[in-house]
Amino acid sequence: MPQENSEISADDLATRLWQELTRAPHDRHHEWRTPILATQGIDASGPQARTVVIRHADAASWTLSIYTDARSPKCLELQSQPLAQLIFWSKRLNWQLRVSAVATVVVRGEQVEAAWERVRQSRAAADYLSTLPPGHIQAAGEPASSDSSESLSGHHLAVLSLKVSSMDWLALRQDGHRRAKLKPCGSLAWLVP
Ligand SMILES: Cc1cc2nc3c(=O)[nH]c(=O)nc-3n(C[C@H](O)[C@H](O)[C@H](O)COP(=O)(O)O)c2cc1C
Repeated sequence: MPQENSEISADDLATRLWQELTRAPHDRHHEWRTPILATQGIDASGPQARTVVIRHADAASWTLSIYTDARSPKCLELQSQPLAQLIFWSKRLNWQLRVSAVATVVVRGEQVEAAWERVRQSRAAADYLSTLPPGHIQAAGEPASSDSSESLSGHHLAVLSLKVSSMDWLALRQDGHRRAKLKPCGSLAWLVP
């Protein structure tokens, strides 16, 4: 089991966590690249959780960005209730990170077009060009995917911008687990694991 967390100080912890978060979007093998995003479902459907890819992490503003299809249910859910949680687990570090955040669904403007410029030449571009929205119930005989081209309908890429309001860090260790709650203002409280 890695011992890295054994000597970590309160002052260093936020810096260390953001170091991992900012590395994740650039490293395909980083375990924190693909956290679980939990939202509140619409119409009493209960919590909704799904895997996403972290595309950008900004340590200065405590903001994380995710790309999605603007028509996906998670966008409607976040527009109705912007409070969300991201759950990260790293076997390498033996760390869980529960990130509470306030989400903004950005569907147009500079940020979205800059994201689309990055995505449009990649295979992932098809994810944002389908004619039918994600979650559409397919009728018998309807093709599994109904792809379109950008010139026909434009893209449906949206950026989920998550402003982090607190982080709950749990480090699993043989000689005693450690847990802390951190906030952007710099506050840190050690919690019983
Ligand atoms: C490894 C992995 C990465 C994924 N990354 C994303 C992502 O970055 N954005 C996204 O919208 N969906 C992503 N998905 C698909 C979602 O988990 C989900 O199935 C889809 O977005 C529909 O979610 P919704 O119906 O709750 O809106 C990913 C799935 C997997 C398995």
